[in-house]
Amino acid sequence: PTEERIDLLMKQMTLEEKVGQMNQYNGFWEVTGPAPKGGNAELKYKHLRDGWVGSMLSVRGVKEVRSVQKIAVEETRLGIPLIIGFDVIHGYKTLSPIPLAEAASWDMEAIKKSAQVAADEASAVGINWTFGPNVDVANDARWGRVMEGAGEDPYLGSKIATARVTGFQGDTKADLLKVNTIAACAKHFAAYGLAEAGLEYNTVDISNSKLYNTVLPPFKAAVDAGIRTFMNSFNILNGVPATGNSFLQREILKGKWKFDGFVVSDWASVREMIPHGFAKDGAEATQKAVTAGSDMDMESYLYVAELAKLVKEGKVKEAMVDDAVRRILRVKFELGLFDDPYKYCDEAREKSEVGSKANNDGVLDMAKKSIVLLKNAPSPFGRAGEGLLPLKKSGQKIALIGALANDKNSPLGSWRIASDDNTAVSVLEGMQQYKDNQLTYEKGADLTVGKTAFIDELVFNTTDKSGFDAAQKVAASADVVVMVLGEHGFQTGEGRSRTSLDLPGVQQELLEAIYKVNPNIVLVLNNGRPLALPWAAEHIPAIVEAWQLGTQTGNAVAQVLYGDYNPSGKLPMSFPRNVGQCPIYYNHYSTGRPVNAEKNVFWSHYTDVEKTPQFPFGFGLSYTTFEYKNCKVNKSAFAKGESVKISVDVTNTGNYDGKEVAQLYIQDVAASLARPVKELKGFELINLKKGETKTVSFTLTDKELGFFDNDGKYLVEPGTFKIMVGGSSDKGLESSFELQ
Ligand code: IFM
Repeated sequence: PTEERIDLLMKQMTLEEKVGQMNQYNGFWEVTGPAPKGGNAELKYKHLRDGWVGSMLSVRGVKEVRSVQKIAVEETRLGIPLIIGFDVIHGYKTLSPIPLAEAASWDMEAIKKSAQVAADEASAVGINWTFGPNVDVANDARWGRVMEGAGEDPYLGSKIATARVTGFQGDTKADLLKVNTIAACAKHFAAYGLAEAGLEYNTVDISNSKLYNTVLPPFKAAVDAGIRTFMNSFNILNGVPATGNSFLQREILKGKWKFDGFVVSDWASVREMIPHGFAKDGAEATQKAVTAGSDMDMESYLYVAELAKLVKEGKVKEAMVDDAVRRILRVKFELGLFDDPYKYCDEAREKSEVGSKANNDGVLDMAKKSIVLLKNAPSPFGRAGEGLLPLKKSGQKIALIGALANDKNSPLGSWRIASDDNTAVSVLEGMQQYKDNQLTYEKGADLTVGKTAFIDELVFNTTDKSGFDAAQKVAASADVVVMVLGEHGFQTGEGRSRTSLDLPGVQQELLEAIYKVNPNIVLVLNNGRPLALPWAAEHIPAIVEAWQLGTQTGNAVAQVLYGDYNPSGKLPMSFPRNVGQCPIYYNHYSTGRPVNAEKNVFWSHYTDVEKTPQFPFGFGLSYTTFEYKNCKVNKSAFAKGESVKISVDVTNTGNYDGKEVAQLYIQDVAASLARPVKELKGFELINLKKGETKTVSFTLTDKELGFFDNDGKYLVEPGTFKIMVGGSSDKGLESSFELQ
């Protein structure tokens, strides 16, 4: 019936009205106020009333959404409702951790729940479409948008894509009709995350095999999970801008993968094909974008200006416009917007849902699960035979140092357009709840000093060390020092590439100054990307990766530091020793000279630093310890089409109950195209009580053992496969089998 309803509607539409459905505008005037007079806003307002706008973005709140929807539904000739898009990236107002942090949980249920919380809130304020999840595989920490994705691995990224899509949309298409689900959008199609040198919007030039094996799997997983929209990307891929890329959008996405939702451009990316040198003017950019399958134009103002003319001149086939419009209308029908355009506009729900206790509990749970314990060496204040953490709950003098410890804004992270400033629980507030210790706070040094000439951009190059003395003083008289250092929430995200991965400002100097007076330091890192901290890794006894954890940051951090929650996160991206190693990722290829067999200089290495990462992908500690034993493969050889089972016993050998992520990696030893030295092909998050042993099993089939060649052909080749099972990508129990 949906397709029939679309047919009926499309028969009544003029070409201009069809083009209107393909046009998306940003919220452009005080919608609940008077109609705009003059300039662009007046023109856009006219377009809205003429039925030349199919979607708006960044309009939010029941009142605002209702007013724009009312114009579309009641004032235009056909009354087609708008689809309202918004960047709900890690929550609407109640924020969960940044997506990279959530990925560190390796907990698919929790990640799905987190997307559900976001959908609950967003749908309650009129939004019915999120521009997420970001499924860009990224392996260069210099790129600011690594905070938005799931890290460097396509297998983990695919599982997370599925969790997020089903969290936003529900498990079936029918779930989209529910009032608390929203349409999701896989972005950025494709390869935006592999920008050269981590430079924002930069060139991507990669082999097709890399595209198929590394970049596309999470997008395919999103399609398989039923995602309804895609967003293309700003970059060129092998010379062709993604927005004008028929190979990506028509051949792969809509062809091979049979995706029947729609593709929205990224902001002005249709127009940006001109500076890319791919289109001479707006008309050509429009022609190329529509021909390539970009269904909706976000903020280029080009489709609405050029497309009808191009169709009349025969330069764009009307069938292509029809196809795009059909896709857009389909998603609107699936959301139930035609049956009730105001279904997301319920003031009572808005009031009860936004900031609810349940949502806060949800994001707190996610925040705790996202924390990664990177180091926990013994110290005089740790329990016998154990590390400095968890902290004792009473009788301790604790010095808390660092501007970020007392910051209620930065932990909200980047991409939180709707949240109110300063609404995070700070680490100081979280720690203050443990009252039986004596807690003293000193800032030590600022992280930010005012704003740059750019709108809302903070200046991070603080040089002021005048707070060092006071910080050293409280540190010297404390039993344990907790230092919260790292990046401000706005140092990552779009447009925030960096060439250094050090602690910004004078924070490294502060860390070393405090270490001089008291080495019993717990370093709590706040950051939106992997940092390079070789000095800290060597000297500081305890390091906790706490990212930017959203609204409940301080509570999550305090509960982990005090042992009320045993951390179980594992890194979703490699942490380099220094920025010169970037891009660095565990699933790289081998060189011809991977080891120093000849004991001479001519092997693949750096002369100044080890080539391994500081902290590898998949790494993360717990307050307890785990031992892996009895790695077994059920057959030493098996045929294509059959499966092989791998099992391993994991024992909790420490003093706390805990959770462990058991990971399975494979290596296809010799193939028609060189394969990575390791590839994640299975993982399981297990709960283990103190002393308990569980057997974890993984099944491998053709699906995990094959790979794509440069023509996109999936090959499963016979030969030896090595396997490794353990708690990190750098070491584990090894075995092998033959595929016949
Ligand atoms: O969704 C975003 C995208 O990721 C980057 N450009 C703007 C879009 C809409 O805000």
